[in-house]
Amino acid sequence: MRKTVIAGNWKMNMTPSATRTFMETLAPMVKGKDKCDIVLCVPFVDIATAVEATRGTNIKIGAQNVHFEPKGAYTGEISAEMLKEVGAEYVIVGHSERRTYFGETDTTVNLRTKAALAAGLTVILCVGEVKEQRLSGITDEVVTMQTKLALADISAEELKRVIIAYEPVWAIGTGLTATPEQADETCGVIRRALAGLYGEEVAEATTIQYGGSMNDKNAAQLLSKTNVDGGLIGGASLKPDAFTAIVDAANA
Ligand code: 13P
Repeated sequence: MRKTVIAGNWKMNMTPSATRTFMETLAPMVKGKDKCDIVLCVPFVDIATAVEATRGTNIKIGAQNVHFEPKGAYTGEISAEMLKEVGAEYVIVGHSERRTYFGETDTTVNLRTKAALAAGLTVILCVGEVKEQRLSGITDEVVTMQTKLALADISAEELKRVIIAYEPVWAIGTGLTATPEQADETCGVIRRALAGLYGEEVAEATTIQYGGSMNDKNAAQLLSKTNVDGGLIGGASLKPDAFTAIVDAANA
């Protein structure tokens, strides 16, 4: 049985004080809802506060990016060891916003994934097609290629700490959602890519999330699909009520 993981990606939202209030509000709301893992990936400066505010709860904390070098002259960057020491357990790698706005490539996604795994973090690795690629009928090729390139030189043992997030770029922050069938089908394509790399058993054990305007209204349907093992949630993860409703859908 693979794990269902409901993860929030706060993107560039929330100050440390807002983070404390949010976590103190959310913790009692999701207490005991243990059929899924619950993760919030917060801005770097919020991590310490988030870790402290969630100690002893079932909420785990992650970052939204990591640099691939262990240290050195990389002004403005944060290493995997820094994240680990401040208490982050997860890190998002290869989010489409980083690919689009910050020059992230399949090569740097692979380097970041390797650095995060080496430091003992769990990686939420994002892949997904843009609208033109879906309309041209090349979604399967795009997500397969992104998955394979991101996982180059990563062992089956290391893959146990990798979650794949399928995030169609056209569905992010747009209010457009992939249909449950589209989400299931493309998560299935990613699972087949994993099977090609690591064999069926490993592919079946890997958590593959859907992300892209998942919310309290559509989560149950999306999560009901065989190949959808959780969600990576942007906007709705900023609201304790909506995020809890998604956790509830995963616990139903
Ligand atoms: P939205 O849920 O706001 O569409 O964002 C999805 C996302 O990018 C999560 O990483």
